Amino acid sequence: MQVAGRQLQVLVTYYSSAGHTRTIAEHVAKATQADLEELRAVGEPLGTGARHYLWALRHLLLSQKPPLVPVEHDASTYDLIILGSPVWLGTFSPVLRSYIRTAPLARKHIALFCSYRNSPGPAFKHVTRMLSTSTVMADTLSLLDPVAAGPSSITIRAQRWAHELELSLVAQAETML
Ligand SMILES: Cc1cc2nc3c(=O)[nH]c(=O)nc-3n(C[C@H](O)[C@H](O)[C@H](O)COP(=O)(O)O)c2cc1C
Repeated sequence: MQVAGRQLQVLVTYYSSAGHTRTIAEHVAKATQADLEELRAVGEPLGTGARHYLWALRHLLLSQKPPLVPVEHDASTYDLIILGSPVWLGTFSPVLRSYIRTAPLARKHIALFCSYRNSPGPAFKHVTRMLSTSTVMADTLSLLDPVAAGPSSITIRAQRWAHELELSLVAQAETML
């Protein structure tokens, strides 16, 4: 992604349990020439069965943020960090919220995307509130059942979103570069 003649360093950090958000993340990373970081929680049950569902519910209902498996990329070295998660009970997964609490995101430009089955609800609003020391981009991407939508539809949405982000960043370039 080029802004004001400079190649921006972009990181796409995401959590995915059943693979939908991963599919979007891969398309967004391609459209923005970003590095990819997949988050995992310590002690997270494998798969998407009943044990995993109960683990997710417990963290959501008790507002717990699970400890993360160490990440590979240092967010402080990137210009733009794109965060993605499935919508769980109208918010981002606790795993992504653990990342927001612990990663060096202050004063960074942040963009948000999600996958969902019924409605994204207030998910973006919740997460934006957690990112009060960052610059959260107004352009978000939310995809309903992206795997069923098919790869070409995700590619188009991801490319269009990358273009919108680029235009917004150009408009903010004076404060960013
Ligand atoms: C614990 C749990 C809670 C969920 N809550 C919601 C919800 O509130 N709204 C919604 O639209 N989808 C909800 N879903 C569906 C997921 O957001 C959707 O299937 C998403 O695409 C899964 O992404 P993933 O494959 O990357 O894990 C929920 C799924 C789980 C497992």
